[in-house]
Amino acid sequence: MKILITGGAGFIGSNFIYYQLQNHPENQFICLDALTYAGNLETLQSAMQHDNFSFVKGNIADRVFVYELFETEKPDIVVNFAAESHVDRSILEPELFLKTNIIGTGVLMDACREYGIKRYHQVSTDEVYGDLPLDRLDLFFTEETPLHTSSPYSASKASADLLVLAYYRTYGLPVTISRCSNNYGPYHFPEKLIPLMIINALHDKKLPVYGTGENVRDWLYVEDHCSAIDLIIRKGRVGQVYNIGGHNEKTNLEVVRTIIKELGKDEELITFVQDRPGHDRRYAIDPAKIHRELGWLPQTNFADGIKKTIKWYLNNESWWQRIISGEYQDYYVKMYGNR
Ligand code: NAD
Ligand code: TYD
Repeated sequence: MKILITGGAGFIGSNFIYYQLQNHPENQFICLDALTYAGNLETLQSAMQHDNFSFVKGNIADRVFVYELFETEKPDIVVNFAAESHVDRSILEPELFLKTNIIGTGVLMDACREYGIKRYHQVSTDEVYGDLPLDRLDLFFTEETPLHTSSPYSASKASADLLVLAYYRTYGLPVTISRCSNNYGPYHFPEKLIPLMIINALHDKKLPVYGTGENVRDWLYVEDHCSAIDLIIRKGRVGQVYNIGGHNEKTNLEVVRTIIKELGKDEELITFVQDRPGHDRRYAIDPAKIHRELGWLPQTNFADGIKKTIKWYLNNESWWQRIISGEYQDYYVKMYGNR
């Protein structure tokens, strides 16, 4: 079986590639990634050693390119991780989010219709459900919760989800969608809360907490997300949405304080800064459906996962140093400039 993984040079996509190479070595894997600021070929260096893995640079919104790739490769399964993924950037520059997250999804699905596919899987987010109030801890997002978005990022992801379901109903495209809570773990780009706080704390730099720090996120160790998607593409019912989350709700302040404690730093580093416009208050997933239908359960709780993550950042300083010093572009030209 040939699996096309888009956005595989980013955080979750790269973890998914390593999960697949380890658990399904009998398959062929192609990673398609535009290598935006968030994509990092260095992350895939070990994957490149595998004969059943190949990398192609390209944009999912480029119809001619995508069709040519499908014509040559004829993938059996497409898992679409490719996206502009950062809420703060979507507030500054929404248009790119519409192009990649909505148009890109449409182009990929059109190619699937044109060339045939066993499964198209859309990696979505719990942010499509909007947010929950902080004082109603009894409320959770289920797959039936209405879409109600806050940021240009979440609106673009919700639009893509609607398009995916429309392609299922109108064209019978065999699709599935997963909506996951906040991930953390290795290869997480240092613009996001957890890696940013780890790296700033290591440099004794201020830790910028938005607003009061009381916003709640439901943290899932990235490997648990990968195992859930793996189950969905193999055993999930076509046309269905599956929520993925592990009941690991923490306030941002709790997360930052845990990182400070693990690194032996001072809480004085915490700095409260102006809040994000439209800042979602609480995300909380009810993962009952994927548990009931596919037997999925997360394996890593937050206390263990954050330790593993911090250890990874301590052991892989060269990976994030190159990113934060902007050397990554030089690396790409050096490695691929002459190919
Ligand atoms: P990321 O920003 O780390 O990686 C995105 C990858 O997509 C990068 O490698 C980038 O180069 C690539 N890309 C961007 N635009 C592209 C385009 N037009 N064509 C081809 N490739 C392109 O993101 P991530 O955190 O790994 O998220 C992956 C997916 O999971 C996204 O769809 C995101 O919405 C979803 N998601 C993320 C989280 C989270 O906590 N990070 C939670 C739930 C869902
Ligand atoms: P983030 O990692 O950007 O993920 P998302 O916005 O998709 O949930 O942010 C997680 C939470 O942390 C969110 O409530 C915003 C907050 N945050 C900060 O307080 N400071 C920061 O520097 C960042 C990046 C995020």
